[in-house]
Amino acid sequence: MLLAVPAETRAGERRVAIVPDAAKRLIADGWDVTVQSGAGQGASIPDDLYRAAGVVLAGDARGTMDGADMVVRVHAPDAAAAALHPEGALHLSFFQPNEELEALRVLAARRATVFSFDLLPRIGRAQSMDALSSQSTVAGYRAGLLAAEHLGRFFPMFMTAAGTVPPAKVLVMGAGVAGLQAIATARRLGAVVHAYDVREAAKEEAESLGAKFVDLGVRAEGVGGYARDLSDEELFRQREALAAEVAASDVVITTAAVPGRRAPVLVTTDMVERMGPGTVIIDIAADAGGNCELTEAGREVVHAGVTIVGVANPASDMPNHASFLYGRNVANFCGLLSEQGSLRPHWSDEVVTGSCLLRDGRPLHGPTAELLGVPLASFEDGGDEEAGP
Ligand code: NAI
Repeated sequence: MLLAVPAETRAGERRVAIVPDAAKRLIADGWDVTVQSGAGQGASIPDDLYRAAGVVLAGDARGTMDGADMVVRVHAPDAAAAALHPEGALHLSFFQPNEELEALRVLAARRATVFSFDLLPRIGRAQSMDALSSQSTVAGYRAGLLAAEHLGRFFPMFMTAAGTVPPAKVLVMGAGVAGLQAIATARRLGAVVHAYDVREAAKEEAESLGAKFVDLGVRAEGVGGYARDLSDEELFRQREALAAEVAASDVVITTAAVPGRRAPVLVTTDMVERMGPGTVIIDIAADAGGNCELTEAGREVVHAGVTIVGVANPASDMPNHASFLYGRNVANFCGLLSEQGSLRPHWSDEVVTGSCLLRDGRPLHGPTAELLGVPLASFEDGGDEEAGP
């Protein structure tokens, strides 16, 4: 079982899909691991550390993937990188089929079996493989730090000889995995934190971290533990009720997302204009369109004295530990793909089927079938035993 880790190709990405710690675990489980030389550089992991873990280093992407049974990445490949994917091999990454349709077509033609962390079922048993959660944890932590860096004020209360400084008021909108971590980080730095979400469960979780929950009575539980899209009327009500809360905050951290959809706009231009000068909005939903009307992904915008930071790819800003956690998620997922040193995906496991976009080049996922314009595949091979990759 040969597992290949090519260098990431997306501009600005500093993470790597496997770190030496994860490679060691995979090798102990019967995998051989090849990593492209320099792939760990952005995460401060030199080739030597991979070598010491028993990894073989290859000079380029083609050599890395040559003869591999499985290729793992952080992001989906582009079409050119997908063309190097070995015929019939497995692939694992954050793969959004609508954003990487060309690469998906190439992989389908190469009869690849493609798993996406974006689809991993959010169930207890899959938590150790939940890369969305591990990377959101990093993103939320970074959001808290970025807020403190951008605000020209203290987060904690200070009682000094020169006078007393009140603590910063932070509002976290969207108290999912990233939002909870942003709350915890802002609290650790001494801020007074308020939090808002549309899921019932978020209230107790935010409160357990010391935030005061802003309850507007708008509930929007969707499927799989996620939030659903709000109606226009609900969104309007939400914005009206939140305007005063936003205006009273020194910092607003926004993390609200709805899977597969544009992020909801929670902070309008009008609401920004009612914030005080020198206040800050950290929007980590920027890659999904942003929770603030003025957000520009990857840029800082100053409007009416308010700095709006559109954080693109926040987990990549802390690449070493983000890669460490991601590598653990990958190694744990690989445990569902092999048995006693042989590649044998557990096709009767909902975590495996639920994460699968393509099996042998044929779609197992409805929206992917639609995008490719082919029927959803059905496999009647009776489970794990005789199923190849
Ligand atoms: P996410 O990244 O899709 O969304 C972030 C947050 O934004 C969510 O809490 C969502 O409710 C909130 N949101 C969406 N629309 C909003 C709106 N209009 N206004 C305010 N907030 C809004 O979600 P994430 O963080 O990936 O996970 C969501 C939930 O999934 C978790 O909180 C948890 O319940 C569940 N989960 C379960 C796991 C498990 O193993 N059992 C693991 C991880 C998550």
